[in-house]
Amino acid sequence: MERPADQIIVIFGASGDLTKRKLLPSLYLLYKTERTPEKFAILGVGRTAYTDESYREFINNQIRSFIREDEIDETLLADFIAKLYYETMDPSIEDEYQKLVSKLNSLTPLIDNKQNYLYYLATPPSLYTYIPTYLNAVGLTDEQGKDATKRVIVEKPFGYNLTSALKLNSIFNTAFHEHQIFRIDHFLGKETVQNILALRFANGIFEPLWNRNIVVYVGITAVENLGIADRGGYYDTSGALRDMVQNHLIQLVALTAMEPPALFESESFRNEIVKIYQSLKPIPESQVTSNVVRGQYIASISGKTPIKGYREEKNITPQSRTETFIAMKVFIDNWRWGGVPFYIRTGKQMPTKVSEIVVHFKKTPHMLFKGSEYSSAPNRLIIRIQPNEGIALKFGLKVPGSNFNIQQVAMDFAYDSLGGVPSGDAYAKLIEDCMLGENTLFTRSDAVEASWKYFDPILKLWNARTDIPLYGYPAGTWGPLESNLIMEKGHTWTNPCKNLTNTDLYCEL
Ligand code: BG6
Repeated sequence: MERPADQIIVIFGASGDLTKRKLLPSLYLLYKTERTPEKFAILGVGRTAYTDESYREFINNQIRSFIREDEIDETLLADFIAKLYYETMDPSIEDEYQKLVSKLNSLTPLIDNKQNYLYYLATPPSLYTYIPTYLNAVGLTDEQGKDATKRVIVEKPFGYNLTSALKLNSIFNTAFHEHQIFRIDHFLGKETVQNILALRFANGIFEPLWNRNIVVYVGITAVENLGIADRGGYYDTSGALRDMVQNHLIQLVALTAMEPPALFESESFRNEIVKIYQSLKPIPESQVTSNVVRGQYIASISGKTPIKGYREEKNITPQSRTETFIAMKVFIDNWRWGGVPFYIRTGKQMPTKVSEIVVHFKKTPHMLFKGSEYSSAPNRLIIRIQPNEGIALKFGLKVPGSNFNIQQVAMDFAYDSLGGVPSGDAYAKLIEDCMLGENTLFTRSDAVEASWKYFDPILKLWNARTDIPLYGYPAGTWGPLESNLIMEKGHTWTNPCKNLTNTDLYCEL
């Protein structure tokens, strides 16, 4: 396996939640499986004051809660922690970057004086406007011909609307070249999301079915059974559309709908994704309410446990109109998909955590087995992204017995049978890709812009028109019933069972 070139990983926002929960645990797992560079250092940067020593101590105490117990090897973990360094600085002040230059100069001998730096922006988005510019000002973005690599990973949300996304792209593209910028969407790092590509493009049987002639509609669900925890400050200014739909869900639409790329390489692949975004059929103002339904969870009781409503959560304004649920109908205006609705929905405080894509095929032209309950149930292909990762094809078969009764059965494949989904999750895969300079699974600037272009008018309209409903739904339910009204006749959401266990991979309500 190719190992990345020696490099220093600089994490902005080093004491934050993402760093503790995802970035350092992923880097540790990469280290443990020998997928980091032979020589590397991790430099944490942030306003909170630490020394190298106190930062190591802080991380040593925190990281264990986010790594599976069986993956902790004390010796390796101690070696890994010893590779952490820290610089206290305010990334919004230009002069502070001299400290970063000195610290990097002192660490560069550890990687044989190669100036390969990877910057990870795990900060609040308000800092994104400063960091690239100031890194550039002190010469830390220049790749010196091909002698050094300077890459930057930037977390979502990339922009708040179209205007801010355009501005951010311009700031990043002034400081870096596009090949140096890695806009991360962690859904693309999920094994099962990548498997959509394998399913579609490593098999011949699906292609003839994958179009408007055979597919009637597609349902994409990515819901969670938790609220917003302690992320109220961020979430209340974001909402479900910016947090999940504009990036993760629309990526799932693109992977399901895209044309096969000519080559499995970055530009071919990303060109096809952009084409889907550019084909999204704009929703006219007059049709927003009939195509997009938003909701917000309200207090309820699960068993005997009370669940708070969104407006009672920490750091949420009591009159907040931020949506925690969205269901919408999306059309892709191209030859393959013209007229086929893609229904997408996401929500917090739903009955379960599940992400899946359900492709609904045409039903039989003639009902042969009359009177049988399932005789005309259409075939469906379910791609389960999480949990119980796998794929199932639903079809009808005869129930044993003298009557000709048809029942829906599932031919299913559980991802576990291939050895399971490796731990370390999406972040490890994407950080490894970035260290290798492989940007296929990262979002290109034109894709971000095309996606915002599609969603921006909806956000603008919601902002301008307070009469557009925000439906309350009791926490622990499948969202407002109005979400069914966007469905065309005969189309339905598939709601997986609440307690998905390994034995009922695809059970539905
Ligand atoms: C993040 C969102 O990008 O994705 C969160 O900000 C959401 O609100 C999370 O909970 C869901 O990701 P996953 O991998 O847990 O499905």
